[in-house]
Amino acid sequence: MNLRHYVRDIPDYPKKGITFFDITPILSTPKAFRYVIDQLYEKYKDCGADKIVAADARGFIFGAPLALKMGIGFVPIRKPGKLPYKNRCVTYDLEYGSDTLCMHVDAIEQGDKILMIDDLLATGGTAEGMIKLIREAGGEIVGAGFVIQLSFLDGDEVMRAADVKHDFLIG
Ligand code: PRP
Ligand code: MG
Repeated sequence: MNLRHYVRDIPDYPKKGITFFDITPILSTPKAFRYVIDQLYEKYKDCGADKIVAADARGFIFGAPLALKMGIGFVPIRKPGKLPYKNRCVTYDLEYGSDTLCMHVDAIEQGDKILMIDDLLATGGTAEGMIKLIREAGGEIVGAGFVIQLSFLDGDEVMRAADVKHDFLIG
């Protein structure tokens, strides 16, 4: 399966000079969507994770079905103001400005083994925020899986600096 065929490039979105990788063709094509989940499953079925942690919003699309297939829990990391119970939040730097990610305080227990999932690793900013949040909660990250990695950006470097082993399907 040539998965790249199901990712649509949208030039100059959301702003000029940026090419947006649109994953909706994967989602609307069952054989492609199933292929993504099956490939991630093969990579991570024996990783020993207790929980999958995924980021609002596109991370949920792949993280939730994978958690179900692996038979483990799913923890959503959300943008501020979305989770109703007590929150643990981190603010992390972006190229211009900063962003905040939150998780329920009881979502991860000390020593939980965590698999991180997201659709895309670009600058690594989101992943870095997730790593901080998971570690502050006492989680041990056993791996991080992405559907796409943009190798011309710094994501790879961020993951290496954080000492998190990651993998991807399209790079
Ligand atoms: C997108 C994408 C990744 C992140 C990757 O999320 O889904 O989570 O950017 O970029 P980075 O490595 O530079 O952080 P975004 O928050 O833009 O949108 P979403 O809510 O659709 O997931
Ligand atoms: Mg995202």
